Amino acid sequence: MRVTVFGTGYVGLVTGACLADVGHHVLCMDINQDKIARLRDGKIPIHEPGLEDLVRRNAGSGHLTFTTSHADAVAYSDLQIVAVGTPPDETGAADLQYVLAVAEAIGANMQSPKIVVVKSTVPVGTCDKTAECVAAALGARGSTLGFDVVSNPEFLKEGAAVADFQRPDRIIVGTNSAHARNVMAELYEPFNRNHDRMLYMATRSSELTKYAANAMLATRISFINEIANLAERLGADIEQVRRGIGSDPRIGYHFIYPGVGYGGSCFPKDVQALTRTAREVGYHAGLIEAVEAVNARQKTQLFDRIAAHFGGVDALKDKTVALWGLAFKPNTDDMREAPSRVLMEALWKAGAKVRAFDPVAGEETRRLYGEEPGFELAPDKYSALDNADALAICTEWQQFRAPDFDEMALRLRNRLIFDGRNLYAPERLRDDGWTYFSIGRAPVQ
Ligand code: UGA
Repeated sequence: MRVTVFGTGYVGLVTGACLADVGHHVLCMDINQDKIARLRDGKIPIHEPGLEDLVRRNAGSGHLTFTTSHADAVAYSDLQIVAVGTPPDETGAADLQYVLAVAEAIGANMQSPKIVVVKSTVPVGTCDKTAECVAAALGARGSTLGFDVVSNPEFLKEGAAVADFQRPDRIIVGTNSAHARNVMAELYEPFNRNHDRMLYMATRSSELTKYAANAMLATRISFINEIANLAERLGADIEQVRRGIGSDPRIGYHFIYPGVGYGGSCFPKDVQALTRTAREVGYHAGLIEAVEAVNARQKTQLFDRIAAHFGGVDALKDKTVALWGLAFKPNTDDMREAPSRVLMEALWKAGAKVRAFDPVAGEETRRLYGEEPGFELAPDKYSALDNADALAICTEWQQFRAPDFDEMALRLRNRLIFDGRNLYAPERLRDDGWTYFSIGRAPVQ
């Protein structure tokens, strides 16, 4: 099949490369000329395991091509997948300008009937708006060509996006058109051979499913973080409680790891957008609002503890905190809404310095905070510790899980760790004379 994908961000590029890899012919369109030029050279703009190989291989075989021309993109195929960004606007709502601009370009350029597939994460009702936009652009040309708009949300996790696309839990297709349904079945047939993963539903149900899935996962995280905060105050250990509740198959072990709050480009944005959508239809989504409030508070946990330990915010002036992990989660260089940012910004405000190490997100952090005098990037995890007053941990990269504690003690000024991801056994650190704060467990001091 021939397929066009608009947008070469995480979702667009992964979609395009994975569809090309099973034999479809895919043209990826992006308005960013520089990005397209780099993609043509096989350089991908994001850190995503396996993606660069996939792009190179399929660009090499001619299955994956790139363009900056709307007209070429629309002419290339009858299946037009929209995977452009929907960043939050200043009110927290998803900004639909990029999605609607693509809709307009499709209506303005199409010469044959099209299926427009909305893959970007968009508020309920956006497929209807997209259809209106395509129809208006067609009307302006006096054209009566037909088209369908299909909702097909994406459930990729950063760091595992290629595998998630190739082995999906479900493929959700929201449409009432039998023709669109058949075309979507053909598109995904290579990913749907052993088990039927296709779930067909009404467009609005499909749109809401995406937000409901992310809000549910975010709720689990805020829930366990709330219980962790309670556990600390009650003298319980959240890791024991986590195992205790996770063993119930109705609860399960996924997404109940306590920490410094969820970040990334999806949960924070989607939870906010859902509360906003609720308000727009006159409903107060109290639970979902609380999920966000608990998360915002959780992101300040490490700083509050560090300040309390040193005797208050003023005492942090001229202290140096070593920081392991900057990215919002391991295996990505994504710093969007990363809890590390809340910690670093609070430390700088208090006059402290941060010497950070992250296996891949260092450069991205430098790009964001290049001018910040309190920020220093260390070349490896141990040199981040040299003469620092404490170590804080924000991201659970594998290489932080079993460090050489003797080496750490030699480099740090104090045997002092503030662990936002519960990476270590408190007893072990106690025996070695460390002061160790973690989440939802009694401090070791
Ligand atoms: C998330 C969803 O997991 C995907 O299914 C969805 O497709 C994607 O958003 C999206 O909407 O595009 P992602 O943002 O890549 O994927 O990251 P996750 O692996 O879900 O992690 C999100 C955050 O939750 C991270 O900051 C992570 O550290 C945190 N988290 C996760 C916890 O604090 N505890 C947990 O138990 C699990």
